[in-house]
Amino acid sequence: MENKIVYLNGDYLPLPEAKVSVLDRGFLFGDGIYEVIPSYSGHLFHLDDHLQRLENSLAGIRLANPHTRLEWQAIFTPLLDANYDQYIYLQITRGTADKRDHAFPDNVPATVFAMCSNIVPLASLNTGIKAISMDDTRWAFCNIKAITLLGNILHRQLAIEQGCAEALLVKDGYLVEGAASNVFAVVDGVLCTPPKTNKILSGITRDVILELAKKNNIAYREDNITFANIKAVTELWVTSSIREIVPIVELDGTVIGEGSPGPVWHTMYNILQAYKQTLL
Ligand code: PDD
Repeated sequence: MENKIVYLNGDYLPLPEAKVSVLDRGFLFGDGIYEVIPSYSGHLFHLDDHLQRLENSLAGIRLANPHTRLEWQAIFTPLLDANYDQYIYLQITRGTADKRDHAFPDNVPATVFAMCSNIVPLASLNTGIKAISMDDTRWAFCNIKAITLLGNILHRQLAIEQGCAEALLVKDGYLVEGAASNVFAVVDGVLCTPPKTNKILSGITRDVILELAKKNNIAYREDNITFANIKAVTELWVTSSIREIVPIVELDGTVIGEGSPGPVWHTMYNILQAYKQTLL
C-alpha cells in the first residue's frame, strides 16, 4: 500500500494508518458524498465550483457541511505536491453511530477523509476510446455526488469487459452521461451536451467546456441527445476532472465520425490546455 499522507477527521497520517469503524455509515449504507478536485502544479482547479457542488451534494443528503470553504482549502493544501498534476479525493459520510439503523443518528460527527493522487493521462487520449451504450439503471438523484456508486461501477465494468473504456448511459431514449463522465456530441456542427437535471452529475469539466465554447465562439447548446439519432453525430466525447476531454471513436462497434478524434475536440482540447496555464 502506498505510504502517502492522507487526511482523516482532523489528522494527517500515513495511508495504512487511516482507519474508520465498520459501523461508519459510509461502509454500512454508502451514506455519504464525495468530490474529486484536480490540482495542476499545486493549484486547485475551479475550487469554488467544486465546493459549491459539495454543498449541493451535502444539502441533497441532508448532511451539514462540517467546514467552511477556507477550512476545506486549508485541509487540502498539505496533501498537494506542486511537481505533479493531481486530484484530491474527498469523502464525507454521516459518521459512525453505535448501532446499524437506517434512520439518521443524532449528534454524530461526520467522517471526513481526503487523499491526493497523481493524474495519469489516458494512454489512448490521442487516438480516442471505444464505448458501449446501455440503459441507465441508476437511481433518481444522479445530481448528488453520492459514494453509493454501485450502479456506476456495474455500468463501467460491463464496458471494460467488452474492451471499452466507458459506458454511455441511455435514459428515456436520451444519452445522459457516462458511468463516470459527462457526454458531449457534435450534431450538425454544434457542440451539444444534456442540460443539468437530476439525471446527470453536474460536471465541473462540463461547465468549464461550455464557458470556453462561449468565450471562443464555438457553437454549442445544452440539449438532449436523442439516442436514436446517434449515427448522425460527427464527434462524441466524455469529460471528467481526471480524464479531462476524451474523444470516443467507436460506439457499440460503430465508428463515430472519421474514427479518429475530430476537429472540434482538437480545438477544445487545446483551448482547455491553454486555459489551465492561465490559472497557474
Ligand atoms: N466522476 N458524471 C459522473 C457520473 C461522474 O462520476 C463524473 C466524475 C462526472 C464528471 O464530473 P467532473 O467533470 O466534475 O469530474 C460526470 C469522478 C471523476 C469520479 O467519480 O472519480
